[in-house]
Amino acid sequence: AGSGKFFVGGNWKCNGTKDSITKLVSDLNSAKLETDVDVVVAPPFVYLDKVKALLTDRIEVSAQNSWIGKGGAFTGEISVEQLKDIGCKWVILGHSERRHIIGEDDQFIGKKAAYALNEGLGVIACIGELLEEREAGKTFDVCFKQLKAFADVVPSWDNIVIAYEPVWAIGTGKVATPQQAQEVHVAVRDWLKKNVSEEVASKTRIIYGGSVNGSNCAELAKQEDIDGFLVGGASLKGPEFATIVNSVT
Ligand code: G3P
Repeated sequence: AGSGKFFVGGNWKCNGTKDSITKLVSDLNSAKLETDVDVVVAPPFVYLDKVKALLTDRIEVSAQNSWIGKGGAFTGEISVEQLKDIGCKWVILGHSERRHIIGEDDQFIGKKAAYALNEGLGVIACIGELLEEREAGKTFDVCFKQLKAFADVVPSWDNIVIAYEPVWAIGTGKVATPQQAQEVHVAVRDWLKKNVSEEVASKTRIIYGGSVNGSNCAELAKQEDIDGFLVGGASLKGPEFATIVNSVT
């Protein structure tokens, strides 16, 4: 870890029931968490308000998506204003599941990011390559293209965390090695230096996501440019998530 305060997000994805989420929140409320870490959890929309109400103020909540503009006649969408209304501080945008399963493209994701940031929400901006792209030696090209789509539209970098999530490592149990992750994180930081500014490059937190768990987090956290994690599966277990939060070095 190097830049800024360590940041650990739990992306619950489309998981949980009223019962399991109540239990998870109570486990999180009683967990001992290092003070010098930003901790955020992203429940499914239907539970967001409930989680915000039950969860200790120590942990912020994030949405897993948001609409590109002001609310209105957009069936099935959730607006940034509604998220702010319930006290939500963050939104995850550009997640690979939305890119590759739902079909969101760079431009659409960029619009959402710009709108959310302009309205004062923090954005966890996800980037990452597919296995075939890595094997074809295109990892950096893909990440830089996705990064550029954010950079082209965002009003400022004050409220953005970049999450590098190699798609082949998501939900597969196949974690990137600390070296593989570090290599991309450095490249992302260099890209920011060249294309945005030295200040943004040094201040922006670049977190890693993809099969992070209680056993592999410590080695990853030691890497100079890994400034935290975005955790999927392991964030559904309170004690294991706390271990990951506490892996800050
Ligand atoms: O956003 C977090 C994520 O995509 C990683 O999921 O289950 O591999 O930790 P998982």
